[in-house]
Amino acid sequence: MEEFKIVRFDLVSSTQDVARQIMRPGVVVVADAQTKGRGRRGREWSSPPGGLWMTAILETGIPPNLLSLGAGAAVSRSLEKFGYKTCLKWPNDVMMDGRKLAGIIGERHGNLVLLGIGINLRNEIQPELRDVATGIPELEREELLPELLKSLGEMLSSDILSLWRRYQCTLGRMVVVDGITGIAEDLDEEGFLILRRGEERIRISSGTLRFLEKL
Ligand code: BTN
Repeated sequence: MEEFKIVRFDLVSSTQDVARQIMRPGVVVVADAQTKGRGRRGREWSSPPGGLWMTAILETGIPPNLLSLGAGAAVSRSLEKFGYKTCLKWPNDVMMDGRKLAGIIGERHGNLVLLGIGINLRNEIQPELRDVATGIPELEREELLPELLKSLGEMLSSDILSLWRRYQCTLGRMVVVDGITGIAEDLDEEGFLILRRGEERIRISSGTLRFLEKL
């Protein structure tokens, strides 16, 4: 089981940037707030105080794509312990009541992966995001963090795809991925999405997925 060492900061540009300076496996960088929180695909990630903003530095051969799927499952597993039901929208959004609760990015640098996890808890959600994003104001970051690290450690030595399947709410649905519409049929062993369009099957490594029906 992975042993983690938590390093805390009040305000950083991004926990990913701080982790990049540290580059020591097992270190988890946690910040109260970020001025330049990053999401996937160069998007901005709003990170005011009250949420859980962290980056775990991991030494693992697991490819970042799979690791991000596993991290989503670890987030769902840890929240389940507090009675919250969440589900996973491929590739790495954690959803609650049809809105996004948490997001994950994985950046590989040599033999290390910087796994960034952002979970909305009691932080303010920007008014323009309130239709699509949600938080858990009742849950303390300091209560959740140890459970999340435990679930992350367990995930690293588990069958990641089985874990992901346990919490996913993507497969079997009509979706659009970067403009391509189809049924999200399955994931392959690398965590790529198999999208079925009529008789055709398209294998997608990553992208932005939108459900065509409400969750
Ligand atoms: C996404 O859904 O687009 C991924 C969001 C990842 C946000 C987290 S918050 C902690 C870490 N530091 C960052 O700058 N980003 C990740």
